[in-house]
Amino acid sequence: MTIHIGAQPDDIADVVLMPGDPYRAKWAAETFLEDAKCINQVRGMLGFTGHWNGHRVTIQGSGMGMPSLSIYANELITQFNAQTLIRIGSCGGMQPHVKMRDIVLASTASSTSTPSSTIMRDLNFAPCADFGLLHKAFHAAEALNLPNTVHVGGIYSSDTFYSERPDLDEQMQRHGILGVEMEAAELYTLAARHGRRAMGIMTVSDHLLTGEALPSDQREKSFGDMVDIALKAAFAS
Ligand code: HPA
Repeated sequence: MTIHIGAQPDDIADVVLMPGDPYRAKWAAETFLEDAKCINQVRGMLGFTGHWNGHRVTIQGSGMGMPSLSIYANELITQFNAQTLIRIGSCGGMQPHVKMRDIVLASTASSTSTPSSTIMRDLNFAPCADFGLLHKAFHAAEALNLPNTVHVGGIYSSDTFYSERPDLDEQMQRHGILGVEMEAAELYTLAARHGRRAMGIMTVSDHLLTGEALPSDQREKSFGDMVDIALKAAFAS
């Protein structure tokens, strides 16, 4: 047991999928895993461990924002020895060719800061996804033949959902950033520090250029596609 995860030492699998929403963790475990067992309920941040195609998997909520994700990812890595961590979440589209419900595989995650920035001092560390995972996720996504387009590229991990920096959004767009979310940069940084594999798979749930937003009930199908891609990427040989 750690401060925020009430699991026994061997309750956590080597592979951990991390949705922001704990109820998405529950839904994904019930939908994709066999023998899923709830291994964490501390603060309602639900986690489950079960099996997918014979492979042991944990699905643990991360909460919203980098400080929250950082707590769970730190404990999963340093206390439970998780080896592969894949964020499955949503993002706001930032380019005209990135449409609602499209899937973004985040090769890099820019930020103004992460909880890890204090140790970087004057260095602009470049958080990036594990290439092996990214490669496998791309092939898994292509094989699904989704009606939605799959994009690979840089995203921006923001500290705010309600941004007061239109100038910054504009610079991100100018520099080809595909979408904005709030967690990946810290996940990539922690994975780099501890020599683990990490990547982020995001569905476009709202759009900064058009103002569109998906109602929460319509996110379910694309969320299922992300879980499928994440599991295939984690276990493809
Ligand atoms: N901004 C920040 N985080 C997000 C967004 C957004 O528009 N959409 C989903 N996560």
